[in-house]
Amino acid sequence: MAARGSCVSRQRQVLFLFLLGGLCLAGSELGRYSVTEETERGSFVANLAKDLGLGVEALAAKRTRVVCDDNKQHLFLDSHTGDLLTNEKLDREKLCGPTEPCMLYFQILMDNPFQIYRAELRILDINDHSPIFQDKKMILKILENTAVGTTFRLERAQDSDGGRNGIQNYTISPNTFFHITVHNSDEGMIYPELVLDKALDWEGQPEFSLTLTALDGGSPPRSGTATIHILVLDINDNAPQFPQELYEIQAPENSPIGLVVIKVTGEDVDSGVNAEISYSFFDASEDIRATFQINPFSGEITLKALLDYEFIKSYKLNVQAVDGGGLSARCTVLVRVLDVNDNAPELIMSSLVNEVVENSPETVLAVFRINDRDSGENGKMVCHIQENLPFLLKPSVDNFYILMTEGALDRESRAEYNITITVSDLGTPRLTTQHTIRVQVSDINDNAPAFNQTSYTLFVRENNSPAMHIGTISATDSDAGSNAHITYSLLPTQDLQMTLTSLVSINADNGQLFAIKALDYEALQAFEFHVGATDRGSPELSSQALVRVVVLDDNDNAPFVLYPMQNASAPYTELLPRTATLDRMPGCHSSYSRPRSPGCSVCGPTMARCAPPGC
Ligand SMILES: *[C@@H]1O[C@H](CO)[C@@H](O)[C@H](O)[C@H]1NC(C)=O
Ligand SMILES: *[C@@H]1O[C@H](CO)[C@@H](O)[C@H](O)[C@H]1NC(C)=O
Ligand SMILES: *[C@@H]1O[C@H](CO)[C@@H](O)[C@H](O)[C@H]1NC(C)=O
Ligand SMILES: *[C@@H]1O[C@H](CO)[C@@H](O)[C@H](O)[C@H]1NC(C)=O
Repeated sequence: MAARGSCVSRQRQVLFLFLLGGLCLAGSELGRYSVTEETERGSFVANLAKDLGLGVEALAAKRTRVVCDDNKQHLFLDSHTGDLLTNEKLDREKLCGPTEPCMLYFQILMDNPFQIYRAELRILDINDHSPIFQDKKMILKILENTAVGTTFRLERAQDSDGGRNGIQNYTISPNTFFHITVHNSDEGMIYPELVLDKALDWEGQPEFSLTLTALDGGSPPRSGTATIHILVLDINDNAPQFPQELYEIQAPENSPIGLVVIKVTGEDVDSGVNAEISYSFFDASEDIRATFQINPFSGEITLKALLDYEFIKSYKLNVQAVDGGGLSARCTVLVRVLDVNDNAPELIMSSLVNEVVENSPETVLAVFRINDRDSGENGKMVCHIQENLPFLLKPSVDNFYILMTEGALDRESRAEYNITITVSDLGTPRLTTQHTIRVQVSDINDNAPAFNQTSYTLFVRENNSPAMHIGTISATDSDAGSNAHITYSLLPTQDLQMTLTSLVSINADNGQLFAIKALDYEALQAFEFHVGATDRGSPELSSQALVRVVVLDDNDNAPFVLYPMQNASAPYTELLPRTATLDRMPGCHSSYSRPRSPGCSVCGPTMARCAPPGC
């Protein structure tokens, strides 16, 4: 019988990240340890730091953890000392039943790089149980003419301890008629047999009581007793008989309660009460008593609990038929439980990360183990993830699997993956378990902002109102978050003769461009500058585009005669349009006067020339 108990996962979400280069997919054997059952929680098992040749800090840095095969937390690792300690009082009988030695298999998992160490812990038995007879009082009816040397099988006692602490011997209280011999049964247990040493005489002594003692091999030994009441019969009667000594039957583990697994029938050649047979189990273990019942009149054996192949694979039922005179016969029914694919595979996550940074090399996302309690094909499993995903499933030792990225991921092409791990067994019908892991690809700043046009040409009609919106530039960044947060700016121009910031301004957030003041076609017909778009990544990335502003002419100048003067009294300044007086020209430090000819500008009142040469 395997160690009992099913698995409850300790779903610790551990964040870990490492390269394939150092990944150890095979497990190494660490060692065999032992601990005595029933010792207090916190008992020392091993010092892992020493046994793994690592410091306590390294154990912590590698997130060392202990996983038991049955996924129960029998053990824990003291991170301060590196000691592996028991996490509970271990009860050998509860963990292993009669199986001896009682082994607990466990793994030590470490990250950076991922490693599995296999180890085993033997739970040493202590003699904490005494032998117990199910029936403290046995009645044995024996015909007075029974031959000397005839043997009578007696019910054995039960002792939960295993190995040497189990039952080792039976003795009987001193008497002249019987002695005890001890035999090994094929289940590795011993049972007592009473041997008749001297002919019985009903007339001499019709009944007597003996004490049967079962002794275990503990030090000191424990014992249990039962009384055997022997009744000597003087009626000439025949014992019942079974046509077969052994019946072998098979029962699938999904058989319903109440199913008649077999009907045994004994025959008795006597008549009347001496031929009335009553059936019962003999020497039945607790498991048998809990699972089967026998109809004392019909001999039908029915199921009273569900069979579980994973728990017990076969039962050996000893059936006894006793007639009305008290004579008995025995046969054996061997019930083989057939496995049915009644357990879906289980997936137990050991560690899991839900986020992976884009552009990083092979990264481990999850370490998990699969398990199926069925046997044979029903317990064989295959494990896969969807196709066409950039992830790999790598098998490791002890049904451990490692889910990792195949290589660098690009968040800009896909930012989220739902990876479904499907575990199926090979039974009929197939049972399947699925587990979906949602993985987010986190951004790194690997994309510069991109303008939607390489250059922009904006047309502005002259004499615009100041602060007029003249156009918008736009860039996008395929990264996310602050890596995609764009800031627009005017780039310093090479043209020393143009102070860009006095002409245009840009909204850093949305790329809207404004003319700061009214433009004058007669002064400036077009100008060019570069704009930049910068993201807020670290390091930041930027790009630039060319903007050309073309000023459109408006018919804003009436023709006039400069010479000869038509009205001598008119002051010179009145030749200038009023609107021009407050404007400033690029390169001029004060108000300027009206240009004398199109395309030329003249600064005033200092009259310093800032027009293109040739004006
Ligand atoms: C069992 O007990 C009897 C009586 O004490 C003794 O003679 C015999 O050697 C014992 N057998 C074993 C296997 O210890
Ligand atoms: C992943 O699964 C979740 C939850 O079922 C769903 O909301 C999400 O859209 C899925 N994502 C993808 C990329 O399929
Ligand atoms: C670029 O973006 C600007 C501002 O949003 C828009 O007016 C213009 O049409 C876009 N150009 C292209 C080619 O989409
Ligand atoms: C200038 O000439 C105009 C028209 O010729 C006339 O109306 C105006 O009065 C003159 N101005 C002066 C100051 O003489």
